[in-house]
Amino acid sequence: MPINVAIIGTGNCAKSLVEGVAFYSKNKNDKIGLMNPNIGKYHPSDIRFVAAFDIDERKVGKKLGEALNTEPNRTVKIADIPEHGVIVQRGPTHDSVIPELREYFIHESDRPAVDVARVLKDSGAEIAVNYLPTGSDKATYAYAEAALAAGCSFINCMPTPIAKSREWQGKFAAAGLVLMGDDIKSQCGATIVNRVLLDLFKMRGIRVTKSEQVNYGGNCDHFNLHYRPEAKEESKESALNSVLDADDAKPSARMIYTEKNYDHKKARIKIDGEIFGHVPVSIDLTLEDEDSPNSGGVVNDAIRAARLLTENGKPHLAKDLCAFLFKAPPEQLPDSEALQKFRKTIGSLEQEPRQSRKPARSPPARGT
Ligand SMILES: NC(=O)c1ccc[n+]([C@@H]2O[C@H](COP(=O)([O-])OP(=O)(O)OC[C@H]3O[C@@H](n4cnc5c(N)ncnc54)[C@H](O)[C@@H]3O)[C@@H](O)[C@H]2O)c1
Repeated sequence: MPINVAIIGTGNCAKSLVEGVAFYSKNKNDKIGLMNPNIGKYHPSDIRFVAAFDIDERKVGKKLGEALNTEPNRTVKIADIPEHGVIVQRGPTHDSVIPELREYFIHESDRPAVDVARVLKDSGAEIAVNYLPTGSDKATYAYAEAALAAGCSFINCMPTPIAKSREWQGKFAAAGLVLMGDDIKSQCGATIVNRVLLDLFKMRGIRVTKSEQVNYGGNCDHFNLHYRPEAKEESKESALNSVLDADDAKPSARMIYTEKNYDHKKARIKIDGEIFGHVPVSIDLTLEDEDSPNSGGVVNDAIRAARLLTENGKPHLAKDLCAFLFKAPPEQLPDSEALQKFRKTIGSLEQEPRQSRKPARSPPARGT
């Protein structure tokens, strides 16, 4: 049975996710770029998009594929998106748009907001993926409430602390739904590269005297982060700090907008340390990537894992998967341990006989 997904925020990351699913659906034997070609019996081609929300007048009311290829989305194209009638609905704005975003990037639609829970229910969505701009706390909580009301699991790709919150964990667990987050950890992004290098320093008995990460990007996300950097910097710094000892220098992560609306990102990572005899050692590297495809594969795994958890009646095990997939999970672990836990949990679910429970709703006839 297909995995029915709703998208909250049809920006660059959503475009990469949807195009990636289209690509691997067409090229079923291609495993390049997939962290997990199969999760349980699920392949990326099992994902189907059945609902989408945005607030930008250039996207609301359009077919999903068309909206994803509309300005200000500019990330690299992975594949054509087949259209099957998903129309982007006008979501509620809450705190998701600051004045600067309104001026340069987001043209807010004057249509009234829909009833999100109703749209989710009617679409047959079982998982809602949250791609709202960083800092949209109220909007994220409102969408999470709507997901709960509609019986949808929730994957939070941005830093608002929701998967981390015991209160929200309790609400989703009580409903038998999966909650995963927070802030997706890119496949090969600045945070994971920085963590691996810091881990190397620690493994080799090196004291860290400086750890700096500066991210330069020109997309809408980076523009927003220029004005609202706090939650993202905290999410990155807590991911880095968790690898370090108390006598190491505190890590810093900064976000810089480069005034070009491209999805190409550069991250400069600089780490200084002290080896044998307090002699200095230093790493200075630049990572370059397309920001949004770098998150697409990880979200693709989270979606399939969420289905596996719900169909086995084990949504509470989501917390054991989050450290591998997210920057600010409920429990922060070293990356090798996070991978082991992810594999062990998925492996245990793959071996269990499936229970005949969620997803209970019958899928609708449409979807991309
Ligand atoms: N590699 C990555 O790109 C990466 C990694 C980790 C986390 N993230 C996070 O994922 C989120 C999405 O990133 P992106 O690059 O797609 O951003 P984006 O700015 O391209 O897309 C955000 C979309 O949300 C829409 N939106 C704004 N308010 C809304 C509302 N109230 N309801 C519905 N839609 C609304 C915008 O119009 C836009 O289409 C950001 O918070 C980002 O920090 C991205």
